[in-house]
Amino acid sequence: MEETYIMIKPDGVQRGLVGEIISRFEKKGFKLTGLKLFKCPQELAEVCALSPCFCSYFCREHYKDLNSKPFFPKLIGYITSGPVVCMAWEGDGVVASARKLIGATNPLQAEPGTIRGDLAVQTGRNVVHGSDSPENGKREIALWFKEGELCEWTPAQAPWLLE
Ligand code: GTP
Ligand code: MG
Repeated sequence: MEETYIMIKPDGVQRGLVGEIISRFEKKGFKLTGLKLFKCPQELAEVCALSPCFCSYFCREHYKDLNSKPFFPKLIGYITSGPVVCMAWEGDGVVASARKLIGATNPLQAEPGTIRGDLAVQTGRNVVHGSDSPENGKREIALWFKEGELCEWTPAQAPWLLE
């Protein structure tokens, strides 16, 4: 089954949007298989592209494709600024569908009805992350979750949701 990694970013946690954001994926009918509140451990990393700086292995790995972008230092500062909510969700077409529920990267361009369209105004504070491919979904879940933290289960509503 397809999996995606969804992360409520520190602004989503600080603004009290955790329940609202989780609820959108639950109501859609996807299956939650992993959930934790997590503060990225910050280390003074010599290997970091921004060296010397305080950053986090998790964030550097997660956003490694963006490490040459001018906004990368700001992005790492943002994601490590407070606790995030890490989630694994499962379902048919969950990767693309979650990206639609989340909306465009720039919240001012995100459609009303999407999470970013309804709840955010700036790209640098866009409250939630969603994997951009099934491969990255698997990679990101493996990065943020340890073995034993994911839960395989059958929702009671499954026959009412899936024919
Ligand atoms: P994620 O789901 O977080 O991966 O966002 P995305 O897939 O919609 O966008 P992308 O992967 O291109 O960028 C990752 C994150 O970097 C964005 O969600 C923003 O938080 C941040 N970001 C991207 N572009 C900019 C920018 O121009 N300025 C700032 N400050 N942050 C940016
Ligand atoms: Mg992305």
